Amino acid sequence: MKKKIKVLNSEDGYNVVADLYDENENYLNSFEQGELVPLLGAIANKKILDVGAGTGRLTTTLVNREAIVTALDASEKMLKILRSKCSDRSRPVTMVVGDAENLPFDNDTFDTVTAAFLIVHLKDPARFFDEAYRVLKDGGLFVVTNINQKDPPPVKTKEGQVIIESFYHRPEKIREILESLAFGIKEEVFIYEGRDASPVPSAQGGLVPGWINQIIVVKK
Ligand SMILES: C[S@@+](CC[C@H](N)C(=O)[O-])C[C@H]1O[C@@H](n2cnc3c(N)ncnc32)[C@H](O)[C@@H]1O
Repeated sequence: MKKKIKVLNSEDGYNVVADLYDENENYLNSFEQGELVPLLGAIANKKILDVGAGTGRLTTTLVNREAIVTALDASEKMLKILRSKCSDRSRPVTMVVGDAENLPFDNDTFDTVTAAFLIVHLKDPARFFDEAYRVLKDGGLFVVTNINQKDPPPVKTKEGQVIIESFYHRPEKIREILESLAFGIKEEVFIYEGRDASPVPSAQGGLVPGWINQIIVVKK
């Protein structure tokens, strides 16, 4: 009999796949093609909150560039792996198990908030965006990526195949929500399947098929 694929929520799902996550690092990087980090500008000594930090694919880069980083994630196991990478005591990382939609930080705390490959797991990103706005200082930057993923891939684990609950978000919807929360759009970059692929306007006039990731930088 064929085994059923289990659909798990983020916390349970990432706790199950944590040990396999870093095997896909190059694949994940290919969705950014080196475009995200330069969009952050100078970050040395800046207080940065990396939400959905996972095993630290982005967090470790921020730390190496001398930012003061807080990494938040719903999965304790993902953060445990990140912790094992942060042995440099001169650059301590604060790690918090928590929910993006209910950030355990005071208003106006961070210079920058980042979220890479997170919102694909949020049914309604507006709640997280609102929280990001609240914890950012005035003038602070929020950098968020939106992967074009309609069918989440099953992952083979010791416990069988699992799918982590995911949601597709149209880029113009993401822009619209951010603007409705009073963020000002600063930059928007689309990553395409091949580096040279040019954007193709959709028949309806807005969307561009071929994009694999939207990176958007907004200002409070
Ligand atoms: C695809 S991974 C991205 C990890 C890392 N940012 C990266 O770019 O490699 C998504 C991460 O978001 C976390 N996550 C999902 N939903 C969350 C939520 N509501 N609050 C906090 N973290 C969440 C997951 O546990 C997982 O570690």
